[in-house]
Amino acid sequence: AAIDDAHRTGYHFQPPKNWINDPNGVMYYKGVYHLFYQYNPKGAVWGNIVWAHAVSTDLVDWVMLPPAIYPTAPFDVNGCWSGSATVLPDGTPVIMYTGIDGENRQVQNVAYPKDLSDPYLREWVKPDYNPVIAPAPGMNATAFRDPTTAWQGPDGLWRLVIGTKDNHRGLAMLYRSRDFKRWAPARRALRSGDTGMWECPDFYPVNSPGIGGGGGTKHVFKVSLDLTRFEYYTFGEYDNATDTYVPDAALADGNDGLRYDYGNFYASKTFLDTAKQRRILWGWANESDSTADYVRKGWAGVQAVPRKVWLAPDGKQLVQWPVAEIESLRGNHVNVTDTLLKAGQHFEVSGLGSPAQADVEASFQVMDLDKAEPFDPAWRASDAQTVCAARGAEAKGGVGPFGVVFKGGGDGGKHVVLMCNDPSMSSHADNLYKPTFAGFVDVDVAQIGGKIPLRTLIDHSVVESFGAHGKTCILSRVYPTKAIGDKARLYVFNNGESDVKVTHLNAYEMRSAKITADVKQNT
Ligand code: FRU
Repeated sequence: AAIDDAHRTGYHFQPPKNWINDPNGVMYYKGVYHLFYQYNPKGAVWGNIVWAHAVSTDLVDWVMLPPAIYPTAPFDVNGCWSGSATVLPDGTPVIMYTGIDGENRQVQNVAYPKDLSDPYLREWVKPDYNPVIAPAPGMNATAFRDPTTAWQGPDGLWRLVIGTKDNHRGLAMLYRSRDFKRWAPARRALRSGDTGMWECPDFYPVNSPGIGGGGGTKHVFKVSLDLTRFEYYTFGEYDNATDTYVPDAALADGNDGLRYDYGNFYASKTFLDTAKQRRILWGWANESDSTADYVRKGWAGVQAVPRKVWLAPDGKQLVQWPVAEIESLRGNHVNVTDTLLKAGQHFEVSGLGSPAQADVEASFQVMDLDKAEPFDPAWRASDAQTVCAARGAEAKGGVGPFGVVFKGGGDGGKHVVLMCNDPSMSSHADNLYKPTFAGFVDVDVAQIGGKIPLRTLIDHSVVESFGAHGKTCILSRVYPTKAIGDKARLYVFNNGESDVKVTHLNAYEMRSAKITADVKQNT
């Protein structure tokens, strides 16, 4: 079938065709970044799941390799689901993934590279002793999956976490092993919560420059909630002798917790990039058109741009930023400075060949914060979306929307910024899922001279925004029917009552990443 490329991305990772979901086994090994991902080799809807494989030396251009892990044995005949890679101290990478066995149980299997001298690690071997972890009697065998990267405790034992549920209670089950082969469950889960099935847990250390002045380490714990399709994280103290994780007290939990992304971003996974000593986050963005559209297009799903992730200096949240490497794709450039947008005005940023593939960095200055709308002290983090949806980008607010700024309730001086994404104006086709995504941005606008920075990566059907230097991120899918390719236009608008100044705006056209087929495969 022909591939409909009208909305295909230029620099957000996607294979030439078919369905993709979760990033898997992400790692850096001997100069090469590996991205495995859930893939249907037979079509554009979920099913027949294997681990497809791509490699890169710069996280920008990718070589597409044949699937690395696919059903071959009783322990994974019905599918090779999500999992992670761990690089052992002797330098050998090992993959742990969820196999769907002959009885449709979810079991955990290991796989090792067949040939360590192949720089791309194309082929993987699954030992006969798999599965290495099976659900114990009484456990929910159809909800026991997505093992994390393993870490070693002071006792030398490896540890990892697996997502499961007990009725409505989501659990991150901890397992320990000396040899990566025999695994024993810990008596206590690392963490649990009353939010349904916990998919794709992730657990990792971040450095905090803020702690005690001198720096220190916090641990981040993330889960993907099957019920809401959103991800939540906390961070706090992990005692690796007792395997106790205690999130920082100030952090909300459950559905009011912090999110990496307040848009379409799921089943994410991080890895430590030992080449550049940074932690990198990969996440999957599903389509928001219909299943019939996936089939018609011949493809579905993209990966978000890899993001560097770290703890904010104030210790209150994580911050994310696109890896610097993608800036190598920047081309044709347009610059705007100190341009006042009066109430109801908009202007076009022209001069880019096509803004359908662009990187736009802008800073907005609110000229009259007193016009900000009152903030209802009853609003919680999870209300951001409702507040934005009720208005939409065309609504007239006091300050904004270009985003909407609310004046603080309790402490009169503080302003709360609400970052919204309204895809209803970018997609004209009917029958689309067009949610308004939103998140509060933790900045005191008055303190920073009323300036609100925003960076947006536009890539045909992806709009990926980073507010306030990466404090609030929103990825949204759009399907323009008229503004495609050369016909795309970029506008800056202000629908609020108060004037807003665009203090600076840098828009770059983005070249396409190079996606090449594996040379060895074709010879
Ligand atoms: C998350 C998920 C995982 C599972 C995989 C199957 O999107 O449901 O829990 O391992 O996808 O493709």
